[in-house]
Amino acid sequence: MNYSPYFNKKYETLDRSQIEALQLERLQRTVAHCMNSPFYKKRFEEIKLCPEDIQSLDDLKRIPFTTKQDLRDTYPFGIASVPLERCVRLHSSSGTTGNPTVILHTQKDLDEWANALARCMWMVGLRPTDVFQNSSGYGMFTGGLGFQYAAERLGMLTVPAAAGNTKRQLKFITDFGTTAVHAIPSYAARLYEVMVEMGIDPRRDTKLTTLLIGAEPHSEEQRRRIEEMLGVKAYNSFGMSEMCGPGVAFECKEQNGMHIWEDYYIVEIVDPQTLEPVQDGEVGEMVLTTINREAMPLLRYRTRDLTRIIPGPCPCGREHKRIDRMKGRSDDMIILKGVNIFPIQIEQVLLQFKELATDYLITLETSDSNDEMSVDVELSQLFTDDFGRLQSLTREITRRLKDEILVTPRVRLVPKGSLPKSEGKAVRVKDLRKHF
Ligand code: COA
Ligand code: AMP
Ligand code: ZN
Repeated sequence: MNYSPYFNKKYETLDRSQIEALQLERLQRTVAHCMNSPFYKKRFEEIKLCPEDIQSLDDLKRIPFTTKQDLRDTYPFGIASVPLERCVRLHSSSGTTGNPTVILHTQKDLDEWANALARCMWMVGLRPTDVFQNSSGYGMFTGGLGFQYAAERLGMLTVPAAAGNTKRQLKFITDFGTTAVHAIPSYAARLYEVMVEMGIDPRRDTKLTTLLIGAEPHSEEQRRRIEEMLGVKAYNSFGMSEMCGPGVAFECKEQNGMHIWEDYYIVEIVDPQTLEPVQDGEVGEMVLTTINREAMPLLRYRTRDLTRIIPGPCPCGREHKRIDRMKGRSDDMIILKGVNIFPIQIEQVLLQFKELATDYLITLETSDSNDEMSVDVELSQLFTDDFGRLQSLTREITRRLKDEILVTPRVRLVPKGSLPKSEGKAVRVKDLRKHF
């Protein structure tokens, strides 16, 4: 069967002037719709902005930035632009001590999300004849349900394997003839390691051709190494829960930057200090405005992700702008095993234990292809050296941390004063992860 190269030709082949005309129309509609959000209504009133003031794309700059803190302050539903009864799902970030963030979706939002991500998968050549396996966590992780609905929308046979249990994942891959897998890059390495242990040769024993990798930073070298190990083409996928999840930007077959779907988002790159726009080609913080969302549109959302617009046209012909692979963050968020963690979450859990002093050190390491976190924490001077009590305290801290950050850290209790200080200041995070 001959399939079109486009999942949605109408939107994928828009030229720049058509993209901008559509963006303005959708931005105007979105800003008017945001008047239904208690948060945005108040904000617009404060700066005396009316929806009619948005007459050009340039007028977007009149709208203040929205931040993660705004989402926390309005937890759980204060930014919504529709009544709750119109919403059919929410996704929430980890965390119990501070307010997590919540993103609400109407049925239309979920449909549009599935369409956007199906478009991405179609763009890299996946077709209904493919068998797609998803190794993301389901539940609140948007990579789970997000890829699930999009793969079904595209018409693939879909294997919702979910995270972990690598031997079983590999059995699915070999038995079901899986051709495409979604995995975070560090887990792709784990899949290969276990293949080697099990005597599986990916080229000989599987039908794998395509890997979709995202959710954590990785380099071009890491991508090439994954491709070589697994005998696949690996395509970079960018998404974030605040923007729905995966499907925001995706590499095309050129593998040179990720097209950001400009019929869904307006992208700005700003200097994270001055918040002024930088030139195309220069690295800055990505700011995104959703222009195709009902339940909870976000205007000028500061992603904290550092990247740049790749100047010039893409040989694939799509005029949707391309962003480069992520270069880091403008905050201290850690991404471990595809899970986002803020050091403050760890600190807040540790502070609940009177047996502990205030200094701690988070170390991120790779051991046997697994990324791990250890947390060394100083005991308060007064605490016991009774081994049994120390062991049960370690277990309790580990459990409470896992509840908070969703991954299991290795906790070590160390004597007061023994953790390294740099120029008198405590060093909080050491990232020693090595991939490949
Ligand atoms: N994707 C798939 N599997 C993963 C994974 C990931 N991101 N991170 C870890 N795993 C696997 C491990 O390899 C291990 O399986 P194995 O021993 O059979 O190889 C298993 O999950 C447990 O991992 P472990 O590191 O022992 O557990 P943890 O308690 O520290 O981590 C997880 C808990 C795995 C549940 C948590 O890291 C998770 O759900 N990660 C998925 C996040 C995700 O999907 N992010 C994408 C969002 S788009
Ligand atoms: P989440 O909200 O859990 O989906 O996490 C979103 C964050 O994951 C983003 O803000 C990025 O920091 C990170 N991320 C997502 N995709 C990528 C990618 N392809 N490369 C690097 N980091 C990514
Ligand atoms: Zn392209």
